[in-house]
Amino acid sequence: MAKLRVGVLASGRGSNLQSLLEQSLGGKIDAQVVLVASNKADAGALEKAREAGIPTRVIDHRGFASREDFDTAMVAALREAGVELVVLAGFMRLLSKVFLEAFPQRIMNIHPSLLPAFPGLNVQRQALEYGARFSGCTVHFVDGGLDTGPIIIQAVVPILEDDSEQSLAARILAEEHRIYPRAVQLFAEGRLRVEGRRVRIAPKADPPETALVNPALPG
Ligand code: GRF
Repeated sequence: MAKLRVGVLASGRGSNLQSLLEQSLGGKIDAQVVLVASNKADAGALEKAREAGIPTRVIDHRGFASREDFDTAMVAALREAGVELVVLAGFMRLLSKVFLEAFPQRIMNIHPSLLPAFPGLNVQRQALEYGARFSGCTVHFVDGGLDTGPIIIQAVVPILEDDSEQSLAARILAEEHRIYPRAVQLFAEGRLRVEGRRVRIAPKADPPETALVNPALPG
């Protein structure tokens, strides 16, 4: 079966990209990263992509008059690469309608909190200052809001007595690296269906019978 063609957008270090690459190149998920694009030429994610031999693109948002123009260029690059699923991994730009309408229900994001708690930036600090006892991470489909789209998968981690922003972020990041590839695999298997705010996950289908055996095999 053809692998799902994934385009990853990242503005930073790229550890989520790395975990996706390990899973896809290791044949653990039915997806292949066909393009890594960034709005920042110095993003660590681009370096990781190059090391893995994945095509990269830099599209600097500062070169565009509007968000829509930038998104149009990004969409063109993704289409050119035949991308079927867009994976945002630390991509620090809000998407306009132009982008959302080009890939309806085909854009995912990962956020380092248990949404809907603590959207936006400085998330670990927000959770610590609030005094929450648990935090975690969320993979969701992207809609027009900030970290508001339908939730696909979440992981919970405890907040410990002596946690700093850094130690909490590291505990959450370890879970991010586990759940993002899983969300991509569920999508690749065609098992995700959005119903309003809820994402329904269909049971795994049995592989289709490809051979007819006569006389029948036992069992
Ligand atoms: C992650 O914490 C992710 O949840 C957030 O941005 C960070 C990206 O980290 N959206 P990395 O670039 O994947 O290492």
